[in-house]
Order: sequence, then C-alpha cells, then structure tokens
Amino acid sequence: MAGLLDHIRRRIQLEGPMSVAEYMHLCLAHPEHGYYRNRDPFGEGGDFITAPEISQMFGELVGLWAVAVWESLGAPNPVQLVELGPGRGTLMSDALRAANQAPAFLDALKVNFIETSPILGETQAAALSEFGPSWHEDLTSLAAGPAIFIANEFFDALPIRQFERSAAGWQERLIGADSNGDLQFQLSPPQHTNPYIPSTLETLPGGAVFEINTAAQGMVGEMTSRIVGEGGAALIIDYGYVEGSNVDTLQAVKEHAYHNVLQAPGDADITAHVDFSAISMAALDGGAQIYGPVGQGNFLRSLGIRERAQQLSANASERQAADIGSALNRLTTPDSMGDLFKVMALTSSGGPMPPGFE
Ligand SMILES: C[S@@+](CC[C@H](N)C(=O)[O-])C[C@H]1O[C@@H](n2cnc3c(N)ncnc32)[C@H](O)[C@@H]1O
Repeated sequence: MAGLLDHIRRRIQLEGPMSVAEYMHLCLAHPEHGYYRNRDPFGEGGDFITAPEISQMFGELVGLWAVAVWESLGAPNPVQLVELGPGRGTLMSDALRAANQAPAFLDALKVNFIETSPILGETQAAALSEFGPSWHEDLTSLAAGPAIFIANEFFDALPIRQFERSAAGWQERLIGADSNGDLQFQLSPPQHTNPYIPSTLETLPGGAVFEINTAAQGMVGEMTSRIVGEGGAALIIDYGYVEGSNVDTLQAVKEHAYHNVLQAPGDADITAHVDFSAISMAALDGGAQIYGPVGQGNFLRSLGIRERAQQLSANASERQAADIGSALNRLTTPDSMGDLFKVMALTSSGGPMPPGFE
C-alpha cells in the first residue's frame, strides 16, 4: 500500500529507524491505511482462516466452556462476556447458540467486544444483533462486575519489540530504509543495560532474538486485576511458545501464504508468536490462578470435540461428514493447529479448575 509505505519512509527520514513495535502498529492500525482498518481478511478470498471460521464446533465448545465457568462463579447476573478481537463475530455466534441450553446464562450476559476494525465491527453487529453487544477500545469502559474474557488469535496481533544478541551485546532490531527508500532491518547501537532483557539470557549465542510484547502483558495485567477484583475468568487461545523461542517469530501473511514482512506494509497481516511464559508471569504477578497452556488439540478433545463431530456427522451428507472430519483434524492434530495453538485460562485463586485443563 503506497500510502502507508510513503508515510513510513517519511517517518524514518524525519525521525530515524523505528522499532518493530511501531512498524507493526502502523501496519495493522494506521487510521487510514492500517491492515485492519479497511478489509475483512478472513476466508478463501482473504488472507487467513481462524479456528471459528474452520468449524462451528470451535465456538460451540468455547460457549459451553463459558457456561461452565459462569456456573462455577455462582451464576452471577449480570455477567460481562468480553471477546477481544472478535473477527467476524463467528466464535461468539456459535458460542451463544450452544449456550442456548443454559437460558439463565443467556439472560445474565452482556456481550462486549474489544475491536479495532470498523469494517469487522459492522459484521459483528449484524451477526450478534439479537444480543445488543457494546464495543470498547479497551477494558476501562466495561461495566463493573464479574467478567468472562475470550481471546482467540488476538494477542498475536499486538506489537512486539525485538532485540538481537551480537558480540557487542543486545541490539534492538529496527526498521530503516536504504538509499532507494526500500525498507530494511537494521540494528540499534549495542545496549549494555536493557531493562527488558532478563539477565539469564546473557549467555545466549550471537544471532539469538528476544521478543517482548508489553501490550500483551499490559492487557493480561488489566484482565487479571478485573478477575481478581470482581470475579471472572479468561480464556486465551493463540499460537505461541512456552519456553523462550529466542528466534525471530515476526511474520506476515497474505492470500494464505507467508509474505515479506517489509513489503507492502498495511496490505498483509503481520503477527508474532505469543510468549505464554511472559503472559503467565503477568497474570501470576497480578494474583491470578493460571491453567495451561495446553495444546489446542488436548483442550478441544477434553471439551468433547470428537463427540460433537460424531453428532454433527450423524445428520450430515457424505460430503458434509468429510468436511467435519477434516475440520476436526485441522483443529486438533499436532501437525496442524493442535500443538502450535495453545490454550491458557486465568481465574481468581481458590476457584475450581475450568473445563479443558484436566
Ligand atoms: C486474527 S483476527 C481473530 C478474529 C477472531 N478472534 C477469530 O478467531 O476469528 C484478530 C482480531 O483482532 C482485532 N484486533 C487486532 N488488533 C487489535 C487491537 N489492537 N485492538 C483491538 N482489536 C484488535 C482484529 O480486528 C480482529 O478482529
């Protein structure tokens, strides 16, 4: 997108190279040219597909998870059901259809969305009109009281900073431009003290990369203080790692294929793997109890995805049954989304273990 590329070049000319976090933020959220500002990126005609778009089973099981958690909280009325980054609203629609078997839950809930995309906001409004959702920029404007948070593929879209180990110490990976104006990665001068980087990483070899997502940690901290202070729980599902990966996980995807991160900014989705250890620490620091992360495959099997697939297949044509089987495999097998995608729950301490983490 020439508009955003020109804007980034000008910024670099005026202010020098920018951090990866600034670049990611501009690519995704620039008010005019940001990736999420001007398109619906889902499905075959788009750039990627997410679990709820693969199969209704995903959202249905998350809905039943929310009902079980709500019951374990003592069935509060009202309860705020908050989805972060709700995409097309598919997960929430499927979840609330499945929650039909608990009418008191439907009666108690207020649906809230944290969403940056005006286009996706319109799609969510159409999909969830019967529930009268409200939209928020952040958690500060949510109504008080117990809250259940759901975030599927939200944290990977929050901007990371990257630091690279070299013989001279840690250097921040920055984005600058060469004499032709083409964007390029470059390194900051060596930083001899860096508050972000744990001292345990000082022994890493040259080329190792440390990534930090302060926005994700901040958001988990806010959810935690809400859960600990007013009751509730959170379910976080995303692709990521548990032990420090120490590699570059920044990636761009366009039309279902990997894309050069620095090419056509604003025209490809740009994400990074989620550091589950870091968000666990943010939750523990705030006093939450954490469960997982477990692989998405184990989580969904534990919630009964195989049984739900059988039930749906029993009333399906041969072709539909094959599609249900292939969606089941895609969501749960280790060579597809079953291991790379991880699931973590936060609750206040002392409550029962939420379903899916046995
Ligand atoms: C990859 S999509 C996932 C959508 C949905 N959860 C799903 O599973 O289909 C990311 C979602 O997060 C939203 N989003 C990305 N960055 C955001 C931010 N900083 N604040 C709020 N929403 C954001 C996007 O607009 C989109 O709805």
